[in-house]
Amino acid sequence: MTVALLGCTPEGERPATTEDTARPTASAPTWHQDVAPIIGSSCLACHATDSLAGAVDLSTGESAATWAPLIAQRTSERTMPPFYAAETDSCQPRFSWSHDPRLSEEALSTLSEWAAAGAPLGDATTAAPVPPPVDTHLERYDLELTPSAAYPAELGDYQICFPLEIPITEPTWIKGIEVLPGDNAVVHHVQVRLDTEGISLERAEGEPYYRCDGALDGDEIGGYLPGAPPVVFPDGVAMPVEPGAVVAMQIHYHVIDEGPFPDLTRVRLQLQDTPPRHVPRLLRVGNTPGITPLGGMVPGPGGDMEFVIPAGARGHEESFLARFDTPGTWAVFLLANHMHYVGTDARLWVERPERELAAECLLHTPNWDFDWQQLYTVDTTDGRAPLLRAGDLIRLTCTYDNSPANDRWMEQLATEGIDELYDVRLGETALNEMCSALIGVYDLGEVTTEGS
Ligand code: HEC
Repeated sequence: MTVALLGCTPEGERPATTEDTARPTASAPTWHQDVAPIIGSSCLACHATDSLAGAVDLSTGESAATWAPLIAQRTSERTMPPFYAAETDSCQPRFSWSHDPRLSEEALSTLSEWAAAGAPLGDATTAAPVPPPVDTHLERYDLELTPSAAYPAELGDYQICFPLEIPITEPTWIKGIEVLPGDNAVVHHVQVRLDTEGISLERAEGEPYYRCDGALDGDEIGGYLPGAPPVVFPDGVAMPVEPGAVVAMQIHYHVIDEGPFPDLTRVRLQLQDTPPRHVPRLLRVGNTPGITPLGGMVPGPGGDMEFVIPAGARGHEESFLARFDTPGTWAVFLLANHMHYVGTDARLWVERPERELAAECLLHTPNWDFDWQQLYTVDTTDGRAPLLRAGDLIRLTCTYDNSPANDRWMEQLATEGIDELYDVRLGETALNEMCSALIGVYDLGEVTTEGS
């Protein structure tokens, strides 16, 4: 075995310079042979010209080469492709995720070796085939609901609701929901609810939209977060809908320039005309203004029940404990954590007193990023899922950093022209905080197998 001593150069060789180390070697991965297929399938849905992140154009070897060091960095720290659910020491979800876009260890090394070698192009005549980007859109849809007028989004951070009537004359079932944002630059995120009573239509008083901070009608059935795939219910699961029902679409606009920026965001529904075996329900745990929380808060470290993140606090925790008390057995298929900019970590798990599988972590998002909150779908294709039963305890712990060490928060405060940290409390806007989680479940009736 030969040992290379740092700083020693064998006789007759020049010391390595940056230029030398960046020189392609025969064995280094090249764009055409190794890198283009990885970028093609995992990145180009967002990084081709005209896409969500088209400014970072990775569609050709030449343009990708200019980003090579950042490609290596963002992929190895696993912030690209965006997917923030993680397996950690404190959370090992038992099941895999559908649409898990994470790169393999092998692909990660290929990208870093390619960047380290100076992003060589390789030989275009023997290029490896490039698979198309993974398509996460609904494979088919039956209805597209469009507001009757575009919303002129102007400077600020607020929520606007759009009641969208569902043009059906017979009862039917919703199988999938996809939101297509009109203007990505202003649509922060979208929640879609099924308003069976038409309350949102009444609130709109004949207008195509109305201001609705915190006011939410009906059951949540889907939504949009950048990078998240549409909600498609698992096999045998669909949401019943009767004629007269309205899709209440709530858009959180976050606009940092004057505007107006006209936005026409649409909702696509995939329907099925036969009754499903199971009906889904979406539960909210934690504190969400305007909605009765499922479960209560757990006193903070000082025994304080108030939700407040003091100015300057780091590693501040807020916890919730909810008792699931609906009879029957419910399979968990959809999960999402939710906080704003002060949040850094959120963990959701179930405790089942006196059961075989006494505790099960459902979702951990340890590098919380407000811009990349996603809906995570449990892969239930083999018929297995985490289960919830009456008496089970759902716990949610959110961690916050309200100090200058939190770059994203500092940036946000600067954007809003605020120059002093303050005690952050519960609220809907990006300058307040929340600690909540969404749990999508469907009814299995009576099942006896423990926790599988
Ligand atoms: C779901 C859409 C999406 C996918 C898929 C995606 N990106 Fe990105 N990417 C973005 C967006 C949006 C930004 C700009 C915001 C940010 O930096 O987070 C970005 C930023 C970047 C940046 C620039 C970072 C910087 O600091 O300026 C790099 C490099 C990058 N992505 C690489 C990749 C690579 C490599 C892949 C595939 C392995 C990938 N991305 C997949 C959406 C995506």
